[in-house]
Amino acid sequence: MKVLMLNGSPHENGCVFTALSEVAGELEKYGIQSEIFQLGKKPVMGCISCGACFKTGKCFYGDDGVNECAEKLREADAFIVGSPVYYAGPNGALCAFLDRLFYGKSKNYAGKPAACVVNCRRGGASAAFDRLNKYFTIANMPVIPSQYWNSTHGRTPEQVRRDLEGMQTMRTLAKNTAWMLQSLSGKPHPEYDKQIYTDFIPRITD
Ligand SMILES: Cc1cc2nc3c(=O)[nH]c(=O)nc-3n(C[C@H](O)[C@H](O)[C@H](O)COP(=O)(O)O)c2cc1C
Repeated sequence: MKVLMLNGSPHENGCVFTALSEVAGELEKYGIQSEIFQLGKKPVMGCISCGACFKTGKCFYGDDGVNECAEKLREADAFIVGSPVYYAGPNGALCAFLDRLFYGKSKNYAGKPAACVVNCRRGGASAAFDRLNKYFTIANMPVIPSQYWNSTHGRTPEQVRRDLEGMQTMRTLAKNTAWMLQSLSGKPHPEYDKQIYTDFIPRITD
């Protein structure tokens, strides 16, 4: 079994990485591998709502890792997204990435347990956490719980390691990930009906 982790921070070995690594370390104890996909410092294109993904299953813009990550997520058994808190939300590059990772492709991820972890220096963690969970709960992905809303605190990895409750929350998240993966193993998600889309204002053709 394999868990794909996405580090949305521009700092490849920073605080978010430290939190994700704590999850990865605990998962290893259950024999579960993980891979951290780094967003890094490269520019990430925002979704331009062209709709190409609905026709091809891929984002038309192939140069910043979205399609590569989508392939990895299709193969993975679970997904954990890590984000720094910027102005009480996930960082902008990560949101741009996730918009394109999910739009037009989310049916490929149905049934995969998912979670997010956020790191902040001081405040805004639960608002960022709520925003990220929106991606999973619109994609039939069961959200993995922990003992608290998954956040760590610190401006440096060293401070994060000293956030003992935050670190324990990461390990509990890993335990629940292992539990959910084991419990769901061999149990495919339900067959879903073709999705009904209704706009609030009826279309002229309806
Ligand atoms: C543009 C920007 C906005 C930030 N906004 C917040 C914030 O709202 N609350 C907070 O506690 N920290 C805030 N921070 C601090 C980051 O959350 C912190 O540096 C980050 O979580 C460190 O993780 P990293 O080393 O993985 O990048 C902000 C940092 C930047 C660069």
